[in-house]
Amino acid sequence: MQKIIDNVYYVGSYDKERKIFDELMPLSEGTTYNSYVVKGSDKTAIIETVYFKKAQEYLKRLIDNNIKVDYIIANHGEQDHTGAIGVVLDKFPDACVVTNKKVASNIESMLNIPGEKIKIIEDGEDLPLGGKTLRFKFAPFVHWPDTMFTYLVEDNILFTCDFLGAHNTTTENIFADYSQNLINCAKKYYAEIMMPFRKFASQYTNYVYELNPKMVLPSHGPIYDNPKFILDLYKEWTDDETKKLVVVPYVSMYGSTKIMVDYLKGKVEKEGFEVKEYDMVNVDTCQFACDLVDACSCIFASPMVLAAPHPFALIGAVLVNTLRPKIKSYGVIGSYGWGGVLAGTYDKLITTIKPDKLGEVIVKGLPQNADYKKLDDMACQIIASCKN
Ligand code: FEO
Repeated sequence: MQKIIDNVYYVGSYDKERKIFDELMPLSEGTTYNSYVVKGSDKTAIIETVYFKKAQEYLKRLIDNNIKVDYIIANHGEQDHTGAIGVVLDKFPDACVVTNKKVASNIESMLNIPGEKIKIIEDGEDLPLGGKTLRFKFAPFVHWPDTMFTYLVEDNILFTCDFLGAHNTTTENIFADYSQNLINCAKKYYAEIMMPFRKFASQYTNYVYELNPKMVLPSHGPIYDNPKFILDLYKEWTDDETKKLVVVPYVSMYGSTKIMVDYLKGKVEKEGFEVKEYDMVNVDTCQFACDLVDACSCIFASPMVLAAPHPFALIGAVLVNTLRPKIKSYGVIGSYGWGGVLAGTYDKLITTIKPDKLGEVIVKGLPQNADYKKLDDMACQIIASCKN
């Protein structure tokens, strides 16, 4: 247990061994499940618990530090934070979970937490602990509909749940080191978890700016005693501005599609843009997602296999559709041998966002002079769409 300020402590768990989150995003250094203790003169609250795999070590830490739990504040129902609620309630039978209706519904169904052990609060409601007051602010869609923040009024510190978090365990110091590595971890985390809800993330970034808390305490990664650092990053990531970056998820079986990718890359780079290629057979989904945060355009490239676009190539479109980046445009290029339909395939996969479609360049076998001309045209369209 580590002291943060008087009567506020960190009691969370580090999980450096965890290799992947949501079975989707590789973790370079694991993650943390942050839990905090707030001691009032009358009552003691813990804010979030931890992932169920860490429940026993977590409970031991509470016991070893003589924490008697009266309230378990659940800002969000997902099991990486609520997974130890059951063991805490078993140990402290007089305690109750304090949360909103949506979280209550989730933890009742996902963890079998009995409804009679849950105290429902409303948006803006206060929970007095004696000299310390917890105030709840509903913040839906950063990132679940159930999410809320908890504000410790007297100390002006804000517990933001998943919002403003990071999968970062570099040091045992619970405070941010403000390093480039932390920025990288926070950006990858944003890409997967918050980017699909970019407009809400922008709205709550402004909310936190205006609240101007002394500290931001998320549920993953370090505590920010300079909240402006992470807020400024979120402002950049969530606004509509893009960078001169084009991403190209591709698969190439016999090299024809790769020739097209490389030719297009050369053309676009000559105009001062950065182009990043991702071989989707061996892709680091986390890096691809991270680059989507800034990208202005995405070019999908695929060969045909069994008369259809390569399945691994289509994963690029599925990820774009899932993560909803702010790209301004997309195009499709590819090569086929004896047949199949590539045209229009990607359009059916890009439904959650509305980037401009730049057209398709689909060739039989190796690209010929006329095909290179079409790729020249696509390069001009990419640049124009990004400038717009
Ligand atoms: Fe970290 Fe949405 O749970």
